[in-house]
Amino acid sequence: MNGWEYKMPVRVVFGEGKVATLANEIKNFGGHCGLLVTSPSFVKRGVATLIQEMSDGLIAGIFSQVSPNPDVKECDACAARLRELQCDFVVALGGGSVMDCAKAAATFCISGEPSTLYLGTGKSVPQEHLPIIAVPTTAGTASEVTSVSVLTDHERGIKTSFSSFGFYPTLAIIDPELTYSVPPYLTACTGFDVICHAIECYWNYRHQPVCDTLAIRALQLALPNLEKAYHEPGNKEARACMAEASVTAGLAFSNTKTSAPHACSYPLTNIYHIPHGEACMMTMCQFLRLNAIDTRVQALAVALGFTDVNAMADELSRMMQATGMRRDLKDFHLTDTDITTLVEKSKSPNLYSNPVEVTDEFLYQMYHDMR
Ligand SMILES: NC(=O)c1ccc[n+]([C@@H]2O[C@H](COP(=O)([O-])OP(=O)(O)OC[C@H]3O[C@@H](n4cnc5c(N)ncnc54)[C@H](O)[C@@H]3O)[C@@H](O)[C@H]2O)c1
Ligand SMILES: [Zn+2]
Repeated sequence: MNGWEYKMPVRVVFGEGKVATLANEIKNFGGHCGLLVTSPSFVKRGVATLIQEMSDGLIAGIFSQVSPNPDVKECDACAARLRELQCDFVVALGGGSVMDCAKAAATFCISGEPSTLYLGTGKSVPQEHLPIIAVPTTAGTASEVTSVSVLTDHERGIKTSFSSFGFYPTLAIIDPELTYSVPPYLTACTGFDVICHAIECYWNYRHQPVCDTLAIRALQLALPNLEKAYHEPGNKEARACMAEASVTAGLAFSNTKTSAPHACSYPLTNIYHIPHGEACMMTMCQFLRLNAIDTRVQALAVALGFTDVNAMADELSRMMQATGMRRDLKDFHLTDTDITTLVEKSKSPNLYSNPVEVTDEFLYQMYHDMR
């Protein structure tokens, strides 16, 4: 048996109402002047001000110009604000978009360089960074426990990720109460992102026992609770289970990385603007059926209580339909050229961590069948 390693530098605090511990947590690591990074909806709903007030004056300002799929310019503006206020820590309150923007800004505010020097260029990100407290408000990306940031450069027409040890938050405060306001469609998109993280981690060629255990636990929580959270946004138990599933899947895939459905999601989001989780899930069932010959994938389906991998794919497909997720690309009237472009743009490195070889022919047929 090959050896393995598990790494997780983020301290994780989980529980309802835990966001109220923010001031104490900041004092614990000696923060004096912080910036709260969030999205406009948190300012509009008064949540950002509430969190700032909870900080005992330690959060000096709010930066809320972060869009879904944040642009490099938003990251650079956030870094400039951090420098202007001479901040010594960052609090990221929001979904993956806010956390990813804040994580990168916490590094580039020190070097003063634009994020475009590093995003999509392969250049190593400088190590020095401000401490980050990540407070997720969706149960999905688990960016609070990963070293990855996904940014978009609309000028260059790319959405891509870069990573750095410095992008790991110092602390993740996961308070399920913050997810009660997530509307049903976003609940489904983010919930399926969790399911994809766990499955893609499990069948990844980098799999190892700690990540396998976490991935199975995440699926045991998410599979019975996603539809409950979708239909009953105020169901505290379902929300807590989804929040725990999200961070648990994150603790798993942070070490293995993702795989083919995530690789295929990038062009689906970039070209057709399909939200991240929905885009990942669009090809998950096809990859499950492709991977059904793999004995580990068969064992996963059985561990989750399914008779076999095809039964698992059938159930996921039913869940997608029940939660308003698109299962095909009919809306987009794809031409043969569009399909060829999708095939080419799906070839990110994570496509190749699938247990069964993913050929161009498979991708072409898959997209063809979806149109
Ligand atoms: N860093 C990583 O490891 C990682 C992993 C997967 C995905 N991602 C990236 O994360 C982004 C997606 O993040 P996401 O799915 O969390 O969505 P998001 O952060 O883009 O948020 C989507 C919308 O939901 C709103 N929202 C967030 N929380 C809310 C709440 N509690 N109540 C009401 N509205 C709320 C936001 O304001 C925004 O308008 C994508 O860019 C994706 O590529 C990053
Ligand atoms: Zn994801």
